[in-house]
Amino acid sequence: MEPMVEIKALSAHAGAAVTLQGWLYGKRSGGKVAFLLVRDGTGLCQCVVEAEAADAFARANELAQESSLQVTGTVRKDERAPGGYELLVTAVRPIQIAKDYPITRKAHGVDFLMNHRHLWFRTPRQTAILRVRHRLIRSMRAFFDDRGFTLVDTPILSPGAAEGAGTLFPVDFFDEQVYLAQTGQLYLEAAAMALGKVYCFGPTFRAEKSKTRRHLAEFWMIEPEIAFAELPDLAELAEAFITHLVGDILTHCRAELETLERDMAPLERIAPPFPRLTYSEAVDLLHSGEVHERLLSELERDRACLKQWQADLGRAEEERAAAKKGWRQDKLDRQILELRENIRELDVDLRNRPGHIENARHFAWGNDLGGDEETILSRHFDKPVIITEYPKDVKAFYMKPKPDDPRVVLNLDVIAPEGYGEIIGGSQREDDFDALIARMEQEQMDRAPYEWYLDLRRYGSVPHGGFGLGVERTVAWICGLRHIRETIPFPRMMGRMTP
Ligand code: 4AD
Ligand code: MG
Repeated sequence: MEPMVEIKALSAHAGAAVTLQGWLYGKRSGGKVAFLLVRDGTGLCQCVVEAEAADAFARANELAQESSLQVTGTVRKDERAPGGYELLVTAVRPIQIAKDYPITRKAHGVDFLMNHRHLWFRTPRQTAILRVRHRLIRSMRAFFDDRGFTLVDTPILSPGAAEGAGTLFPVDFFDEQVYLAQTGQLYLEAAAMALGKVYCFGPTFRAEKSKTRRHLAEFWMIEPEIAFAELPDLAELAEAFITHLVGDILTHCRAELETLERDMAPLERIAPPFPRLTYSEAVDLLHSGEVHERLLSELERDRACLKQWQADLGRAEEERAAAKKGWRQDKLDRQILELRENIRELDVDLRNRPGHIENARHFAWGNDLGGDEETILSRHFDKPVIITEYPKDVKAFYMKPKPDDPRVVLNLDVIAPEGYGEIIGGSQREDDFDALIARMEQEQMDRAPYEWYLDLRRYGSVPHGGFGLGVERTVAWICGLRHIRETIPFPRMMGRMTP
């Protein structure tokens, strides 16, 4: 019996007979020869079945896309094959013959693909994203583990709000209303007073009624929390953390980034120091002529791009009308669908953008920086930018005001480049009992559920702080994805709960 090998290990078996097991990704037949494209989760292998191998040839012809199978044959080096090796087949053993697999080479819209998310995984693009996500999570944990942080798991069911009552998902807990956690932070602060440096990593939930390309209702967040840390320490840690993550992905996930056609140059530029500005400086930048000019010229450029796409679409549609049924027609259909989706999206964007540009120019100090402002700021720099000291009134109750300017808090947001927006939010915490009580009263918060949290200010309070990094937004940025929905295996967001 030939050894069972994984496709990624084929090169070690050149010239030998082996068996592969996996699924049929695609098939081409040319009369006297059939080419089976087999995937097994580690790679793709072209399997050549010649008509002389009569039994194998007959079975190969029965197989439809995504049938599961074993194939035996001899490994042969071939520069043209995906992976550089192919299999000259002697036997084909179907395991289950699939019929009418819904995701074909034909054009499919995003909604259709999202409804078939459980099957859509089986494409090189989606597996590349899942692998980057896996590696990213591994590097995130390694970063904190190697720096003496202790992982502390915080609860998912929680009695109250930490990030604003407006985004809580209620849950019935034995007839009592509780909520899904928006963050692990408050519990993590307790753990930091015991262990010094801690982090938590888990799913978090926000009932934000926003259907944007950046928002999920359920997302994963890693949050470090450190005793005896102040804002500059947090900024330094965030900078080192992001640099580590990008470096690690560039080292270990090049093939995946290539599959995703990610331009790696912007990632290769990520190194300390990151630009730092205060919220007030960010507002001045939004008001500046320099930014305004740039936005207007980008608007012109994108309007030209829209015209170009519309012309491309017209040409593709003409060609499609004249094309014969088959491979060429399918390819044109896919192109047309993609162009239509891109045009629709850019068109909406271009209609809204003049308004956003005006809003940015007249952005009033005191408002929170929203997605549009973040996009503008993040395009202005070619590295992540650290923005600190936001107005107290737009930030959470636990943030510590700046001692010599209490209108602002000692917080930081990190905005990813290339228009990706906020990936990290964090702050130094209010460590003074009376100040915290005063702020909670101002916010009309019910004190009872937070008595335990107040204990941390009663018994050995110290300056401390931390931040949270959103996994999905970071995956979207590193993979260069326009929309967050592909960064998580099964997204939960407004308007999407299945599969
Ligand atoms: O800025 P946020 O709300 O901060 C906190 O939750 C703090 N308690 C963290 C801390 O200090 N320990 O969220 C942190 C990050 C954001 O920067 C973003 O990357 C991500 O979590 N995030 C979301 N990602 C996807 N969908 C959403 N609806 C998100 N909301 C926040
Ligand atoms: Mg935030």
